[in-house]
Amino acid sequence: MKGKMKILFVSSEVAPFAKAGELADVASSLPKMLKETGQDVRVITPQYRSTNERKYVLRDVIRLQNIPVPLGKETVPVHVKSAFLPGSKVQAYFIDYRPFFFREGLYSDLKTRREYKDNARRFILFNRAVLETLIKLQWQPDVIHCHNWQSALIPLFLKTAYRNDPFFSKTNTLLTVHHFASQGHFPFQCVEDLNIEGDFSPQIREMERENRFSFLAAGLACSDAINTVSETYAREVLGLSGLDHGLHHLLHSRKQDFSGITNGIDLTQWNPAGDPFLPLSYGPQDLDKKSELKKALSLNQGLPFNPETPLLALVSPLTDQKGLQLVCDAADALLRQDCQWVILGAGEDRYHKFFLSAKRKHKKRIGLNLKHEESLAHLVLAGSDILLMPSLEEPCGLTQMQAMRYGTIPVVRKTGGLADTVSPFNPKSGRGNGFVFQKAEARDLIASVRAAIALFQQKAVWQKIMRNAMAVDFSWESPAKKYVQLYSKCTAKKNRVKDFYGSH
Ligand code: GLC
Repeated sequence: MKGKMKILFVSSEVAPFAKAGELADVASSLPKMLKETGQDVRVITPQYRSTNERKYVLRDVIRLQNIPVPLGKETVPVHVKSAFLPGSKVQAYFIDYRPFFFREGLYSDLKTRREYKDNARRFILFNRAVLETLIKLQWQPDVIHCHNWQSALIPLFLKTAYRNDPFFSKTNTLLTVHHFASQGHFPFQCVEDLNIEGDFSPQIREMERENRFSFLAAGLACSDAINTVSETYAREVLGLSGLDHGLHHLLHSRKQDFSGITNGIDLTQWNPAGDPFLPLSYGPQDLDKKSELKKALSLNQGLPFNPETPLLALVSPLTDQKGLQLVCDAADALLRQDCQWVILGAGEDRYHKFFLSAKRKHKKRIGLNLKHEESLAHLVLAGSDILLMPSLEEPCGLTQMQAMRYGTIPVVRKTGGLADTVSPFNPKSGRGNGFVFQKAEARDLIASVRAAIALFQQKAVWQKIMRNAMAVDFSWESPAKKYVQLYSKCTAKKNRVKDFYGSH
């Protein structure tokens, strides 16, 4: 398809309105880039308690009041508000249904960390409310771009409840899966809330896993195209790595329509030459200034400042997936060397306990922040020397790119987007921008960090690695072009999933 396309982004989190993970960043920065390149893009998301209505000037829209949305035996009245994505002309819509979304956490209770029991109903309503909103708005997207299980029912609804609705006859769907581990599995009876008329039971049964209904499987079966967030991860999930988390068969049946596009980062927010969260600006031409930032970070963390001591950062959810067990196993050996650590992130209790105890032992060597804070993330990534990212699974990862843009050198495991964005430094050729290890074993992580620390001591070489890292183009420009191509591909008639469940 040539010319301007109408694209609707559907995401359960969009920064800065509400954020639980990196999906929120993607769902904000990609639409902005698409808009800049001339596409007609809009975004739709739930309004949570944490969505700051005043700050972002959410407005009521008269014709989007009291929209009746079917949900099981009920019909639920939904309000929709609108605002702009800050710093852009991208229109954002908010599904406001307080009994479901006006809670502190997005998917789980922040105190107990338990998932909300009514998540299936909450997101069935969200998906259906999106389609009803479009009808009320009379805005017909060429592509509805869904993200993760939380919006994966839209393709299913379009192939069932709305399949004869002429309003959607030209609308196609793309599902981006940001991680196959999270699939939205619910007790099977939740399908009653879908209100799908007609007998689709054999196909719906296909989406059953151990008497549970999988939202993601529904999306994979019904979307016109599917992608994930890096090329390597796309290959890994199709391979025998086990990273498909039980979706091997379904993914293979859609192999022709599945691809990987590596994310970018928002270069206006991650800009060492003008970052409001930093006390000074710098760039590849004045790398010595980074030492001032290290000083500011050390002060902020109550650590003694020593420019010669390498400062290692861990800015990550403290979870198994992010390779935290490897970090714990490697910590003793690494702390025997002269280095300091700053940790920023929250996660599993056992990792909190581990770092609290390490901090007690090494008061002046570890800065510990067991709660993610966006502004502090900027200072940590700018003020450190090395970033640890030994993820077991990493569909893309944004932090390594943010760190590199700030001249902080990543040590990563070779998986998913980490493999696509970090290339190992080669002292002979002078090429490369980080340190990469393959096996998920503590000793490989230790060896990689030691290699990094050894080169850190050679100032000229280290500055070369920093300049290499800062020179990589991580903007959304090129991924946005690939998305436009993908949108065109899925609007091409021959690519549409005509009937249910993968048959063309
Ligand atoms: C998920 C993935 C992460 C990716 C992000 C944005 O959080 O785990 O690797 O960067 O989505 O696509």
